[in-house]
Amino acid sequence: MREGTATLIRREDYTAPAFWIRSVDLTFELDPVKTLVISRMQVERNADLPVQALRLHGDDIVLTRVLANGESVSFRHEDGMLVIDSLPEGPFLLEIRNTCSPEKNTALSGLYQSGGGLFTQCEAEGFRRITYFLDRPDVMAVYTVTLRASKAAYPVLLSNGNLVEQGDLGNGRHFAKWHDPFPKPSYLFALVAADLVAREQHIRTRSGKDHLLQVYVRRGDLEKTEHAMNSLIASIVWDEARFGLPLDLERFMIVAVGDFNMGAMENKGLNIFNTKFVLATPATATDVDYAGIESVVGHEYFHNWTGNRITCRDWFQLSLKEGLTVFRDQEFSMDMAGSASARAVKRIEDVRQLRQVQFPEDAGSMAHPVRPDSYVEINNFYTATVYEKGSEVVRMMQTLVGREGFARGITLYFERHDGQAVTCDDFAQAIADANPDTALARLLPQFKRWYSQAGTPRLSARGRFDAPTRTYTLSLEQTALPSPGQPEKAPFVIPVAMGLVGRDGAALPLQLEGEDAPVGNERVLVLDEARNFYTFVNIDVEPVPSLLRGFSAPVVLADHLADADLLTLLQHDPDAFNRWEAGQRLAMNRLLAAIGGEAPLALDTPFVDALRNVLRHPELDAAFKELTLTLPSETYLAEQLSVVDPQKIHTVREAMKLQLARELRDDWAWAFEQNQVAGGYSPDAASAGKRALANLSLSMLCLGSAADGDTVWPGRAFQRFKDAGNMTDRLGALTALTASHSELAEPALQRFHALFKDEALVIDKWFALQATTPEKDGRVFARAKQLLKHPDFSLRNPNRARSLISALCMSNPGAFHRTDAAGYVFWADRIIELDSINPQLAARMARVMDRWSALAEPYRSAAHVALQRVAAKPDLSSDVREIIGRALEQA
Ligand code: TRP
Ligand code: ZN
Repeated sequence: MREGTATLIRREDYTAPAFWIRSVDLTFELDPVKTLVISRMQVERNADLPVQALRLHGDDIVLTRVLANGESVSFRHEDGMLVIDSLPEGPFLLEIRNTCSPEKNTALSGLYQSGGGLFTQCEAEGFRRITYFLDRPDVMAVYTVTLRASKAAYPVLLSNGNLVEQGDLGNGRHFAKWHDPFPKPSYLFALVAADLVAREQHIRTRSGKDHLLQVYVRRGDLEKTEHAMNSLIASIVWDEARFGLPLDLERFMIVAVGDFNMGAMENKGLNIFNTKFVLATPATATDVDYAGIESVVGHEYFHNWTGNRITCRDWFQLSLKEGLTVFRDQEFSMDMAGSASARAVKRIEDVRQLRQVQFPEDAGSMAHPVRPDSYVEINNFYTATVYEKGSEVVRMMQTLVGREGFARGITLYFERHDGQAVTCDDFAQAIADANPDTALARLLPQFKRWYSQAGTPRLSARGRFDAPTRTYTLSLEQTALPSPGQPEKAPFVIPVAMGLVGRDGAALPLQLEGEDAPVGNERVLVLDEARNFYTFVNIDVEPVPSLLRGFSAPVVLADHLADADLLTLLQHDPDAFNRWEAGQRLAMNRLLAAIGGEAPLALDTPFVDALRNVLRHPELDAAFKELTLTLPSETYLAEQLSVVDPQKIHTVREAMKLQLARELRDDWAWAFEQNQVAGGYSPDAASAGKRALANLSLSMLCLGSAADGDTVWPGRAFQRFKDAGNMTDRLGALTALTASHSELAEPALQRFHALFKDEALVIDKWFALQATTPEKDGRVFARAKQLLKHPDFSLRNPNRARSLISALCMSNPGAFHRTDAAGYVFWADRIIELDSINPQLAARMARVMDRWSALAEPYRSAAHVALQRVAAKPDLSSDVREIIGRALEQA
């Protein structure tokens, strides 16, 4: 599939490019079978380096001609590159002609076909699959692009920047010429040629400039674009208000495509999106989908400054743009959510995601620093560590310098580096330099260990109250476990936001020894050594420490709190995040004890009462209640254990869920009735929270009914499924039926499919729902295998492949990890199949085995066999080989 040789690229080997490409003029004769590309580049030598050959990247394309200043030159192919030895001393014009075949491109990287249209995806190294180029982010050029194509097949022709000319070519063909005035790296190039329609909106920004916003979709999807457009407008307003960063383009386009490897792509002025993150109507999309659209539209828009105006010097710096942009999209969603409690809910969701995906990543075979030191295939490093942990690193900087200080830092970053390709060091330096009198500036070299050291640090806290001296001494100690290639680690800088809570729930004034007066009742302790002590004075009774508020650092905290303390925090902590955390900890302690066989699973009254109090609380938000009453996931539980028995985890968690369903039966019924949303659908946080809680309640009621042999609630769920006015409620009711293995699940699933058979994104949900149903007697796994043969299933469409394969293998541990190894056989078969179609996607799915060596027997040995079988595939892509190779190193 890929011609790339599997060599290890190292960060320390970085050298500047030997040539610069200042501008490029591209002409495309578009055709799905064979597209002709003519590239005319203004090239000059990098005067800082010795004279050497020009080496251009190229992958899976056919060269037809090379001219320098109009003269033919000799060239050779070497290590998959096009090498030209003798070239003029001074600047020259290089013309290259080549062809590529979009219809054969199933990898969806480069120029490919989807739904009859032609689309590109160039990040990270897809441009070299379109034409020969210096395909690296530190080579920035001004692009002029002419697209020529059949008018009937491709009425819409788009590229980056501004449309400068368009017209007819005769013979049923037409052309469009685009110019992007901003120099950009090749990974931000994009073109689209397709039969599309657009929702348009003219806006005037603060500076008085007019802009045209467009959202392009397939005919018939136009009414599904309102939320995406609203999200785009909100993003533009937010970036200007929060960071003073305006829209710099006359025209900003979003294009939705049904076949896409990731969520979306920030190509300059022409963002290309997975349809999943554009299309929504209340009838077809859930609240989670609406929130996802807002956040991804924001994310790609925010890249226009953090990624495009300032880009990465090399791919090791990926978190420079991704960590920062995730931080920005998280802040955007939080600001959009409004109330303090809705902000906390968003924070909880983000942290839950971090713990469920990034923590296991950091503890497995693919563990790597936020700024990796080496890679084989850069596509394998678009990870939760680079994105989500990278965002946490940026968030810690904001915590250390304050919100205003951070905004000042961003301003300085743009003053220094606008238009450049830079490093993570440059970013951290700008934030620190704009805030000279802060812990960040003082500790910068040490703080930057967050970029260089992998693994999740452990933070251990112990408090000691001394009544005679009225002091409370907190000891904080950090330790780091070894990671691949990093046996020893130096201490991190850990900001610990905290408060002390009295038994009655009062937030105590915080006065450290040596201070004249208390400094508020919440503060940030900065732990910069392996261990430190903090003594608080004027404390009358032993307080409960509330540590790491808002999850102020990406660490695992052991606070050694007793149940009584956790119950106090669950009830009283002024920090909503830590209230939720206390509830999770109470549940986790009980689950882990039962999994370890130390205690039988019997829920104690204080715990059940505390959860009931949350559920029935008159003031707490429904969304917060739903999060607090949801048990820690099987994946997160597995993360806590050094030897993982997935079936044991599944059984214990399901049992606890059932107990909660029964113990709180009346309360669930009450919550279900209380949280009905009247009137038309709106995706706002308050209504979405109510729907989430009503749906959780309904699920619990159906679960309890199934165990008690009562049919009232399943009947109500079925009725609600049929009557639902929006997809959130419809899918919620359907999930209540499937998750409780109700007899009504089958007819409901059939009905659902018939109702939405023409809605690809809804059919994805239909597959995913079946593949993620909690396992019972092997039925779910058997069903998933059966679904492979369903006429609607296809491995070629990434969304569809994910909706069945990733859903089962990654999101349903109870169904996937089987004592008979059938889950692993299924996995290996799919990876081998998919590897020949789409290596990037195959490599992502292969990652479910990252922590295979922590599995208990018989899972461990069976996983090993499956891994070896994949490794033995003769022409395995370098993408999958890197993942499997690293996993096998754990043997
Ligand atoms: N830069 C994209 C983002 O916003 C990520 C992305 C989209 C991507 N498509 C890709 C990365 C293909 C690698 C390959 O996060
Ligand atoms: Zn991004």
